[in-house]
Amino acid sequence: MATYDRIGTTYSGTRRPDPRIAARIHAALGDAATVINVGAGTGSYEPPHTVLAVEPSAVMIAQRPAGSAPSLQASAESIPLADNSADAVMAVLTVHHWSDLEAGVGELLRIARRRVVVFTWDQTVYRKFWLLDEYLPEVAAFTGTRSVPVDRLTALLGGAPHRDRPDPA
Ligand SMILES: C[S@@+](CC[C@H](N)C(=O)[O-])C[C@H]1O[C@@H](n2cnc3c(N)ncnc32)[C@H](O)[C@@H]1O
Repeated sequence: MATYDRIGTTYSGTRRPDPRIAARIHAALGDAATVINVGAGTGSYEPPHTVLAVEPSAVMIAQRPAGSAPSLQASAESIPLADNSADAVMAVLTVHHWSDLEAGVGELLRIARRRVVVFTWDQTVYRKFWLLDEYLPEVAAFTGTRSVPVDRLTALLGGAPHRDRPDPA
């Protein structure tokens, strides 16, 4: 059973996309005419020209809204699609769940014709947020066990640029 089959049963009712994040993701996708969303969940942040959602959890797939892109039940580490399947591939708040980050990123690069867009958090910045730092250190510690170092991620992506990365100092 995929983890989100257990913890994702109310995801579409409680998760609301942030329009500021959506704008940045869509800007990063640029003029891609076709997009595949990997770790797509219930479809948050998918632009209208999304052609396929890749998602391991049947529970998350079942919550995708009517009319959204078709889904393929699969994990990032092994995506049963041909090379260069879409102009762009996006992966939003999912890489920290992958059992093999290197394999997963390799698959994103393989199935994307032109662009890969990954959205995640930078733990070096996040842990300094005053609310976590002063009041919720356990939350910061927990997310620290899950976070993907941004430098590792960008190295795997072949030196991709960071966007909107605040100065961690
Ligand atoms: C926090 S949710 C994000 C979902 C969606 N991208 C969003 O922004 O709402 C994380 C998603 O990653 C998926 N996931 C977990 N392990 C995965 C893997 N190995 N490959 C692809 N997706 C995975 C989960 O099933 C879940 O749908």
